[in-house]
Amino acid sequence: MEEINASIGFDQKLFAQDILGSKAHARMLAAKGIISKKDASAILKGLDEIEVEIRAGKFKFSRALEDIHMNVESRLKDLIGPAAGRLHTARSRNDQVAVDFRLYVREAAGDLELALAGLQKALAQQALKHAATIMPGFTHLQTAQPITFGHHLLAYVEMVSRDRGRFRDAIARMNESPLGAAALAGTPYPIDRDMTAKELGFAAPMRNSLDAVSDRDFALEVLAASTICATHLSRLAEEMVLWMTAQFGFVKLSDKFTTGSSIMPQKRNPDAAELVRAKPGRILGAFTALTVVMKGLPLTYSKDMQEDKEPVFDAISSLSLAIAAMEGMVSDLTADEARMRAAASRGFATATDLADWLVTQLGLAFREAHHVTGTLVALAEKKGTDLEGLSLAEMQKVHTGITKDIFKAITVEASVAARKSLGGTAPANVKRQAQRWLKLLS
Ligand code: ARG
Repeated sequence: MEEINASIGFDQKLFAQDILGSKAHARMLAAKGIISKKDASAILKGLDEIEVEIRAGKFKFSRALEDIHMNVESRLKDLIGPAAGRLHTARSRNDQVAVDFRLYVREAAGDLELALAGLQKALAQQALKHAATIMPGFTHLQTAQPITFGHHLLAYVEMVSRDRGRFRDAIARMNESPLGAAALAGTPYPIDRDMTAKELGFAAPMRNSLDAVSDRDFALEVLAASTICATHLSRLAEEMVLWMTAQFGFVKLSDKFTTGSSIMPQKRNPDAAELVRAKPGRILGAFTALTVVMKGLPLTYSKDMQEDKEPVFDAISSLSLAIAAMEGMVSDLTADEARMRAAASRGFATATDLADWLVTQLGLAFREAHHVTGTLVALAEKKGTDLEGLSLAEMQKVHTGITKDIFKAITVEASVAARKSLGGTAPANVKRQAQRWLKLLS
């Protein structure tokens, strides 16, 4: 029974929140005359002492005492005697654990949000550096149109910005205090829930005591936001893995973020990127685990809910490590601009520009221009060259109106420079956007 019932093995992580919640509760009890000022000050002093003991690693956690709440209360009794027994007046472990966990998740979500700002900064700095660095843009992982590397990196800055927004939204929604809901129905003591809510930094007390002790949607929201965020990171991680292959050769990471092979001396493995790529597995796993724990649970508290903590702890530390590793890799990477540019000019990446030239200069309908371009691409393919490798005479055989000006439009540089539409890849746009982000992030 003890082995299955106890949570102290993992919920000791909540010690600081537990002590904070208890101190707010004790102060309120004294302010409302529910316990004496003398008992309250003994309780506060004892709790401070316990916090020091835990931080110093001197506290003896006991499995027989089940969880962090009972461990702290029992030690309080050792330290201050019978007054310790008054702390639990007008409170239950049900609202106690709800407030502890909310405080923990709120802080963790804030830390993740802040860490993501650091990643955005690293991305935006590289983006500014590579505002004009040309690389192939892909659809279906097939060369589509030339883009700039800076533009590609700024796409992730935008994704991460929404991830940050999701964490902020979750924090705003969860920022209500369950403390004072007691076991489930409230309490006959004249407590002041506004006072404890305020002291703990909550915007207000939760309005329904049953809801207060029984929902864990705040943790689910952070897990959902973490899953989406980890998914974004995994896409960038996958791209790094691809870009680092000999076949792509777009970027290099230093030894700081790669590992060697024990048998193949030439290897530089992108292990950190691969591990970031893998993280959504366990983070989505955590979200799934807690969703399934909560699904179909009758109101209010059931011991099932003790299973809420480990998945959340694991997801938060996994994501925080993934963000740190990604920030490190992004800052560390060097781009092989020559290889990127060469790759961008293979695969007929400027075919759309050729079609656009036929539309704007010769007045062709886009569909017709598309057809003419298709014929030219087929011709170049047969000849084993790119579009720039066709002669003017060869082009004119396909369409008589074509002039030598077309060659200016179908270079990769012209292609990216022309995409000045809002949100487009033109180096001028990318530079402006990278600067805008860096200003916002500083
Ligand atoms: N360790 C418990 C948990 O994490 C604390 C709440 C216990 N409440 C109860 N009614 N047994 O959920």
